[in-house]
Amino acid sequence: MEKSALVYEGKAKKLFQTDQSNVLWVEYLDQATALNGAKKDAIHGKGALNNQITSLIFQWLNEEGMTSHFIKSISKHEQLVESVEIIPLEIVVRNVAAGSFTKRFGIPEGTLLAFPIVEFYYKDDALDDPFINDEHIRLLKLATGKEINDIKHLAFRLNQLLCRLFADIDIQLVDFKIEVGRNKNGKILLADEITPDTCRLWDRQTKDHLDKDIYRRDLGDLIPIYQEVLQRLENYLAKEQ
Ligand code: TMP
Repeated sequence: MEKSALVYEGKAKKLFQTDQSNVLWVEYLDQATALNGAKKDAIHGKGALNNQITSLIFQWLNEEGMTSHFIKSISKHEQLVESVEIIPLEIVVRNVAAGSFTKRFGIPEGTLLAFPIVEFYYKDDALDDPFINDEHIRLLKLATGKEINDIKHLAFRLNQLLCRLFADIDIQLVDFKIEVGRNKNGKILLADEITPDTCRLWDRQTKDHLDKDIYRRDLGDLIPIYQEVLQRLENYLAKEQ
């Protein structure tokens, strides 16, 4: 497989075309951003950690019957994925109040929600990714009503699977963000990444942050924390085999 033209450069990764039209080459970058890019730093080793973490999770999800765009990891910081048409939504699932939810509703961080909820944000940096609802999504023609239902179903099922996986490695899954896309048959597929950049992960005993809040809130060095998450996943998945 050959890497060719750059097709997309985001805050944390670059996507390249390959010699197969439906396959993209993803390179995870040593970069951290917060506050919609206003805070930005190079962090050596972060790209490789995120690629390894998301690859293990997507591989495990596949074995649990949840397909995604993920094909395979090809190096410590690179992977191949199926090319999909990304729907410009950030889909957030919350189990525990934290982050923007605590600010918006005045509910203290750490409050267990009575049931998991899904929220949608319109992925548009110029508009600062506004919070939107199902009707906005249909009005803006970002997705159909059926697709919105499929996305919610996928998000809740994924939440159940991920809560189980993280509980088994003594981590509470507080919330997470996913992106989805349409494959060439129009099927909604889980895409993007699942990493400590895109999830809030708290140690179940100590409640320590094991995620990008370390960087967002200037709580210390992110690398040993991401290494800890990767180590726990590797140990657990090795035992499962
Ligand atoms: P929030 O509390 O800031 O809305 O974030 C909810 C979850 O979504 C949290 O796990 C972090 C993740 N997230 C991203 O991955 N990218 C983003 O741009 C934002 C705002 C949140």
